[in-house]
Amino acid sequence: MKISLISTSHREKSQSNRISKILEEVILKINNKIICYNLNMYNSKIPLWTSNKRENSEFWEKNFEKISNELKNSDGFIMIVPEYGGMATPNSKNFFLVFNNGELFHKPGLIVSISSGNGGAYPISELRASSYKNSHIMWIPENIIIRNVEQFLPGNHGKLIPSWIDDRIKYSCDLLIKYAEYIKPIQKFINRKDFSNGM
Ligand SMILES: Cc1cc2nc3c(=O)[nH]c(=O)nc-3n(C[C@H](O)[C@H](O)[C@H](O)COP(=O)(O)O)c2cc1C
Repeated sequence: MKISLISTSHREKSQSNRISKILEEVILKINNKIICYNLNMYNSKIPLWTSNKRENSEFWEKNFEKISNELKNSDGFIMIVPEYGGMATPNSKNFFLVFNNGELFHKPGLIVSISSGNGGAYPISELRASSYKNSHIMWIPENIIIRNVEQFLPGNHGKLIPSWIDDRIKYSCDLLIKYAEYIKPIQKFINRKDFSNGM
């Protein structure tokens, strides 16, 4: 089984990327045979989608296929999305336009929203409201919000981090893995030729 962790920050030294690595450890503790693929959208320099692929030919000719294949081979996804201006990040939305070739089709996804303060709800409602139509990602009913994210450090959390959050994260990751396992047989029924875009 392979799980992709997608960090959608626009910053070089991001909390999203830090959280992504912590979540990878959680996944591996649950099952060390799971292969994790970390996609840091900032480092990977994934361009804003345009119809003119010559504009970013280096990405489209060299890197796109490699990343797309990693995602295609994944059974589930964790999207780490910070709240920017009360919204999901542009990178999190751009991801669904760039990787729109069935990579995510009918595969489970866990949204992990982060905020340096008390925010974090908006990216979840935004991704749940849109994002799935053409990508066909299946967000699982659980999601995580890590508030006061700078204080989040398992084993040494700051005062503002609730004591229950590690258990909830483990539970949600556990569930994501189970969804990925049980949903897999559905792949053979999927008709991307006639129904590649949702209604
Ligand atoms: C452009 C920008 C806008 C932000 N807007 C919000 C916001 O609306 N709500 C919030 O809770 N935090 C907001 N923050 C703070 C982020 O939650 C915090 O910086 C977080 O660490 C960002 O994640 P990152 O480090 O992965 O980029 C904002 C940060 C940036 C850079």
